[in-house]
Amino acid sequence: MKILALSGSARRNSTNTALLRAVGRAAPEGMDIRIYENIGRLPVYSPDIEAEPLPDAVRDYIDRVARSDGVIVSSPEYVRSLPGGLKNAIDWLVSRDTLVGKPIALMHASHRGDDMLDALRMVLATVSDRFAPDIFLRFSLMKMTPEEIARLIARSENAEQVNAFLRAFAAFCRS
Ligand SMILES: Cc1cc2nc3c(=O)[nH]c(=O)nc-3n(C[C@H](O)[C@H](O)[C@H](O)COP(=O)(O)O)c2cc1C
Repeated sequence: MKILALSGSARRNSTNTALLRAVGRAAPEGMDIRIYENIGRLPVYSPDIEAEPLPDAVRDYIDRVARSDGVIVSSPEYVRSLPGGLKNAIDWLVSRDTLVGKPIALMHASHRGDDMLDALRMVLATVSDRFAPDIFLRFSLMKMTPEEIARLIARSENAEQVNAFLRAFAAFCRS
């Protein structure tokens, strides 16, 4: 099972990206979680660009989403909503059926950011009829380094939560 992980943060030491990486390393047998690294290289969506041959970065991104069996998103809150780069990445998919029927679950790397989570849940429920709002994993990781996050997620009590989340999402993707 191929899972694509989208981080809403383009920050080098992003806690959301580090969480996705740590969870990816904990994936059970048969589940392959790959981070999409190029969200910051996608051009701003415009229907005009879509009418032309698609830029390589966009084509590659759409292919990766299309080939995945499910998508996990983890994002910071920017100005009480989802970051523009993540919204742009989602916008690139809405005029085609790539996300319709795509299983999607959320993770979040902060105790703050509930306005963003509300907005992102509304967007994802609009673009996919298989967004699973109840399959959700949250840790309070603000200001932590990727190394600290890796260590924290590996602790047995947290690894159990990660495992339960991934197993629930895998079952949802298969259903
Ligand atoms: C431009 C910008 C806007 C932000 N706006 C908010 C906000 O509205 N509410 C909030 O709780 N945090 C806000 N933050 C803080 C981030 O959500 C927080 O630092 C997050 O954990 C960063 O995630 P990352 O480590 O994955 O980059 C903002 C940060 C930036 C850089």
